Amino acid sequence: MKCITVRDLNFSYPGNIDVFRDLNLCIDVGEKAGISAPNGTGKSTLFLLLTGLLKAQSGTLSLWESTVTKETDFKKARLKTGLLFQDPDDQLFLPTVEEDIAFVLLNRGQSRQEAGKKVDMLCKQFGIEHLKKRVPFHLSWGQKRLVSLAGVLVTEPELLLLDEPTAGVDDKVIEIIQTCIENHTGTMLVSSHDKHFLEKTCTTRYHLTNQRLEKC
Ligand SMILES: Nc1ncnc2c1ncn2[C@@H]1O[C@H](COP(=O)(O)OP(=O)(O)OP(=O)(O)O)[C@@H](O)[C@H]1O
Ligand SMILES: [Mg+2]
Repeated sequence: MKCITVRDLNFSYPGNIDVFRDLNLCIDVGEKAGISAPNGTGKSTLFLLLTGLLKAQSGTLSLWESTVTKETDFKKARLKTGLLFQDPDDQLFLPTVEEDIAFVLLNRGQSRQEAGKKVDMLCKQFGIEHLKKRVPFHLSWGQKRLVSLAGVLVTEPELLLLDEPTAGVDDKVIEIIQTCIENHTGTMLVSSHDKHFLEKTCTTRYHLTNQRLEKC
């Protein structure tokens, strides 16, 4: 079964900043795919298009073999998808770390007790229990990265979209991210400038060039 199918996608930002021209991509369920590309070529834009946060001018996108066009289609798909934004400041917005990690679960109607158990488990796994009552905004970059990753993994998404998770973090955080990817049984698409990290964590790799994706 296919997880992500993109056909002839064209996208430009207002002002005619052309990002994708007839981009195609096909990722199977269970595939762990990596994207490498220079700065400014469209990795983050692709993640935003896949989650319906941006709309393409033309082309088709299917998730789990269902065409997604309308906001209602994306809403359904987002229940099974976890997007880690490149900048953790785009992800974190609540007054405490524990509230931020629990946010989606509570929003989906899970009890505080159940959500709290999952938050505790992830905080323990990531070694960030001491940060639970802290203000996310005050954390270091690496700490923010772990908190935002916990907020994504807490829903156990089938599709994991990670936009440059290893940028600006130390070896210990990279190791935690690698372990999360290894333990993830679903599908994953990750962007990174770190070739070694992509080799270690991905089953297939793509390079974004000339406004299209090419398999490496
Ligand atoms: N909101 C926006 N409005 C206009 N242009 C934008 C906007 N966001 C991004 N761009 C432009 O679109 C192109 C792709 O940007 P994007 O952020 O997707 O690249 P990227 O590959 O993720 O880069 P990086 O490696 O630096 O994270 C760039 O030329 C960028 O300047
Ligand atoms: Mg980016």
